Amino acid sequence: MEIKKIAVLGAGDMGHGIAEVSAIAGYEVWMRDIKQEFVDRGMERIKQSLVKLQEKGKIENVEQVLARIHPTVDLAEAVKDADLIIEAVPEVFEIKTQVFAECDKLAKPECIFASNTSTMRITDLAKATKREDKFIGLHFFNPPVLMKLVEVIRGEKSSDEAIKIGVEYVKKLGKVPVVVRKDVPGFIVNRIQAPSGALLMAIIEKGIAKPEEIDAMMRKMGLPMGPFELMDFTGIDVFYHACKYYAKTISPDYEPPKILEEMVKAGKLGKKTGKGWYDWSAGRPQIDMDKATDKISPMDFSIVEINEAVKLVEMGVADPQDIDTAVKLGLNRPFGPFELASTLDEDQILNRLNELAQMFGKKIFEPAETIKAKKLKKLLEKKEEKPSEEFQTIKIEKLGDGITKLILNRPDRLNTISVQVLDELDKAITMLWKDDETRVIIITGAGRAFSAGADLSGTIITHPFDFVEHNRKGERIFRRLAEIPKPVIAAINGYALGGGFEIAMNCDIRLAKKSAILGLPEVGLGIIPGWSGTQRLVKLVGISRAMQLALTGERITAEEAERWGIVNKVFDDDKFEEEVLKYAKNIVERCAPISMALIKRLINKGGEVPMDIGMEWECTACGVAFATDDMKEGISAFLRKEKLNFKGR
Ligand code: COA
Repeated sequence: MEIKKIAVLGAGDMGHGIAEVSAIAGYEVWMRDIKQEFVDRGMERIKQSLVKLQEKGKIENVEQVLARIHPTVDLAEAVKDADLIIEAVPEVFEIKTQVFAECDKLAKPECIFASNTSTMRITDLAKATKREDKFIGLHFFNPPVLMKLVEVIRGEKSSDEAIKIGVEYVKKLGKVPVVVRKDVPGFIVNRIQAPSGALLMAIIEKGIAKPEEIDAMMRKMGLPMGPFELMDFTGIDVFYHACKYYAKTISPDYEPPKILEEMVKAGKLGKKTGKGWYDWSAGRPQIDMDKATDKISPMDFSIVEINEAVKLVEMGVADPQDIDTAVKLGLNRPFGPFELASTLDEDQILNRLNELAQMFGKKIFEPAETIKAKKLKKLLEKKEEKPSEEFQTIKIEKLGDGITKLILNRPDRLNTISVQVLDELDKAITMLWKDDETRVIIITGAGRAFSAGADLSGTIITHPFDFVEHNRKGERIFRRLAEIPKPVIAAINGYALGGGFEIAMNCDIRLAKKSAILGLPEVGLGIIPGWSGTQRLVKLVGISRAMQLALTGERITAEEAERWGIVNKVFDDDKFEEEVLKYAKNIVERCAPISMALIKRLINKGGEVPMDIGMEWECTACGVAFATDDMKEGISAFLRKEKLNFKGR
């Protein structure tokens, strides 16, 4: 069934966001709430958000999107003829079931029902209708307009067809669907965080550390916000109710501590009431970083999350790959629990879980069966075997004639480079290395930037040595662009800063849009260009100019970069894509693939050795070229004045 008309029930935080993203994707959307003022407020918020998106160049026309959203207070009007109904009304079971029961009578029989609940069983909600097979969960993350993940939840009676429709809809929104195969409390993302929340509470209850001491420790590790500040931010009551819900549905170990209950009773709900763990009356609390505790290990939180992730796999809720994807996208984290687990020692995880379970008297920290049986590494190996279905942060486009575009594809984050981007880039380079259809690679960015560098948000690296490894990984992956035996053109279509500039430096040719800006801002962040910047820049422009850029963080225009010899050519903005394509086509038509592979290697490696050795390599390479069919083709086509037809053989 093709989805055309969507009804979103509720115009609040989630409802208006879901309506907005659906309309942006081209759906006709009826947004319904019980009072006109709620609907009006929702529409106002959508309008404000769309204007921002238009300013950022993410949508073309605010009015066109708005015209697809039909606000109403009339439930019958909203759901009549709808193909998909998404419910986002308050998290109260009776309200939700009442709305669904009414919709069941008003909607057409084939309409799919979805709930955006984050706490209720889809199976239980579905019982309010006579279409349990057409009932699924679509769990968006807040704010829907920014968050890429949607959990698609299978209730006990959901049909394959309903899940497929849900998945297709999420993909059409440009978001990433992760199917939750079993209807468990907390689904994937919230469920994985549940035990670390319980650990935080247990630490406070036992008086091992205070909220500020823990927050300071986490902030020192690079988190933008400590867990207690975050709890204040989202609402103490929200956390309290989640604990209560998990205590009822998973284990009494989740029962919230007295102090949390007292805070809720006293109305100390965090930012919204001015007081929570912190005093918010004068704005965001100042965390004293000197108070960072060393009485607990930040790794403990990761370990209990890994444990929960393994339990989800054991229960058949999702496989490790999907869990990693969900956690990274749902929580904006650089690593998923299984990726993190692969860097840890299996025994260390097992022993620490046993210690935590004993120390706090909580069964929920006891190791999962797989960990107990020391089969975690096996599980991780299985994950490696599963080929990734598709790229999420990059895009590969075959343009024909041997030209392949590799697009850094996180336009809303200015194509910043996360661990996932690095991993996907690595895979893509391997793919293109072997791909006979690809003769020239153009690497560019989606939207207005080439890449604004390393993703500075939420990098959880706990030890300097891990940071060394993180840098080494990026440097090795970028270096493969210089090693792949085909020409790589960086089409610098906007900002190329930090790691973005470093990607471009590792390419063979750099073509830039006139409006592009290049620079190495790391010095102003207290770090250094760690993905080959300090080394490659010197080769490109000499010590003096390399110093100027890396030492001062100065940003230069594309034209200046061209004068310096960093950029090979600059094109006007409106002709940029056309000119880049022409440039690549010219290479494919005129240049022999094996010659290019050899030349690229000689120039890159030859500069690293004494000249007489480089010359020796050059002679040997000439011999290799001489033995190719392409050499015969090149010379004979020239003599016969015929069109070239290189085969790369
Ligand atoms: N890491 C994480 N997020 C980044 C980022 C980075 N390196 N660079 C940009 N972003 C985010 C911004 O925080 C912003 O997020 P928001 O929409 O949630 O507020 C979004 O990308 C758009 O950037 P914004 O700053 O609003 O755009 P702008 O046009 O005003 O400025 C830049 C663009 C590139 C000049 C500016 O974002 C910048 O200086 N970024 C940092 C670049 C940097 O230092 N890179 C080196 C990293 S080692």
